[in-house]
Amino acid sequence: MANSVPLLVSCLLVIISVSLAQTSFRPRGLVLPVRKDASTQQYVTAIDQRTPLVRVNLVVHLGGQYLWVDCDNNYSSSTYRPARCRSAQCSLAGATGCGDCFNGPRPGCNNNTCGLTPDNPFIRTATGGELAEDAVSVRSTDGSNPGRTVTVPRFLFVCAPTLLIQGLAGSATGLAGLGRARVGMPSLFSAAFSFRRKFAICLSGSTRSDGVILFGDSPYNFIRVPAPLDAGASLAYTPLFVNPVSTAGAYSQGEASTEYFIRIRSVRVNNSPVAVNATLLDIDAEGNGGAKISTVNQYTLLETSIYRAVVDAFSRATTGIRRAPAVAPFEVCYESGSVGSTRVGPGVPNIDLVLQGEGAVWTWTGSNSMVYVNDDVLCLAVVDGGANPRTAVVIGGHQIEDNLLQFDLAASRLGFSNTLLGRQTTCANFNFTSIA
Ligand SMILES: *[C@@H]1O[C@H](CO)[C@@H](O)[C@H](O)[C@H]1NC(C)=O
Ligand SMILES: *[C@@H]1O[C@H](CO)[C@@H](O)[C@H](O)[C@H]1NC(C)=O
Ligand SMILES: *[C@@H]1O[C@H](CO)[C@@H](O)[C@H](O)[C@H]1NC(C)=O
Ligand SMILES: *[C@@H]1O[C@H](CO)[C@@H](O)[C@H](O)[C@H]1NC(C)=O
Repeated sequence: MANSVPLLVSCLLVIISVSLAQTSFRPRGLVLPVRKDASTQQYVTAIDQRTPLVRVNLVVHLGGQYLWVDCDNNYSSSTYRPARCRSAQCSLAGATGCGDCFNGPRPGCNNNTCGLTPDNPFIRTATGGELAEDAVSVRSTDGSNPGRTVTVPRFLFVCAPTLLIQGLAGSATGLAGLGRARVGMPSLFSAAFSFRRKFAICLSGSTRSDGVILFGDSPYNFIRVPAPLDAGASLAYTPLFVNPVSTAGAYSQGEASTEYFIRIRSVRVNNSPVAVNATLLDIDAEGNGGAKISTVNQYTLLETSIYRAVVDAFSRATTGIRRAPAVAPFEVCYESGSVGSTRVGPGVPNIDLVLQGEGAVWTWTGSNSMVYVNDDVLCLAVVDGGANPRTAVVIGGHQIEDNLLQFDLAASRLGFSNTLLGRQTTCANFNFTSIA
């Protein structure tokens, strides 16, 4: 019995020094791996959450409002705290309502809490959920490798019912919302560790190797021979626009969209301008039109008249290549044997998005414009988005793979690298060897 006192004291000292070490270490950035799921084509990342920590797989929703996870199934944590009505957390999240829950208490079901309406854009469903906080642990990074693990003891998220995870990649139990909301994951991580409100994504098209999300500023180094490439060092920039009308599945009046909109000034195919209705490229007062970047759509959606113009121009520019019958949802397809191969993908004419800003031309080479539907056929990877879509141009996952995109929330601008294949590396080349 007498011996237990010194032991207790030394345990306390260890605990104190560990927590001191954690608070005095301030990461310059954070890193999450992202893997494309083979069956759904969704991009899946993972965080460690709760006490004790549980690995939670999450589908990446670039413009998503916040992190939400399924709390109905097996959520157990000693550090779960619901956000109380009228608390600072509720107002940060813009959650004005107050609610009670009658079959609790348990995570996701407590009295005197504020709620939000998490949505799953893959199945176009939104539902009620409880705003809450719990511990989240992620790896820090110096921009080259993962370093030591850091913890945010009270990371805001929304607890959703199990029905909301329908349609998500098999292992995923929630969405990683990287949108521009104050409770979006980029803003929360920046606030927790006092780094600039910037993050970068670099998605790999491979289902067997990881792309990366990097919170914080560059460098964003990718392995390359003979020397690594800092893909954040030579970006082109274009302003990000706020769509004043929410694009979420459920929202209250006056709520702006948390998605990332950019302004396309014109489109070129094979260096020639394509005639498109410029009115559609601007966001109108009702929030219609404009262009956004989304990881919800695998392939870029173009409003019908823009689609027609781009597809016809591309078709005319490729008369020398043997066509193959259309493979839905694509219209323009080619025999792969008739298409040359280059370092930047199938040898086809480039498609340029001329964006607002000096030198802001986003070029899609074959690797981003074309998709192999089987070994023998490849198609122009854009889809008709219909005659009156909410957003005229939705730039999808396939078109951003192997491009590094940096979102600077403070400066409201997008930095983009264009394809890294042209610089002898890929988004699958972040060095995940830990240096902790
Ligand atoms: C429940 O969570 C624990 C870890 O907290 C895990 O070991 C177990 O496999 C989970 N069970 C189910 C059915 O998901
Ligand atoms: C919430 O309050 C109601 C009474 O208003 C009570 O019946 C219920 O058990 C409480 N639920 C929880 C989760 O505490
Ligand atoms: C361009 O698009 C706008 C918005 O849909 C529409 O009102 C207008 O008629 C279109 N202009 C032409 C020339 O098609
Ligand atoms: C990855 O990082 C580790 C740790 O810094 C280093 O030893 C290794 O050489 C790197 N791998 C490559 C392929 O550069």
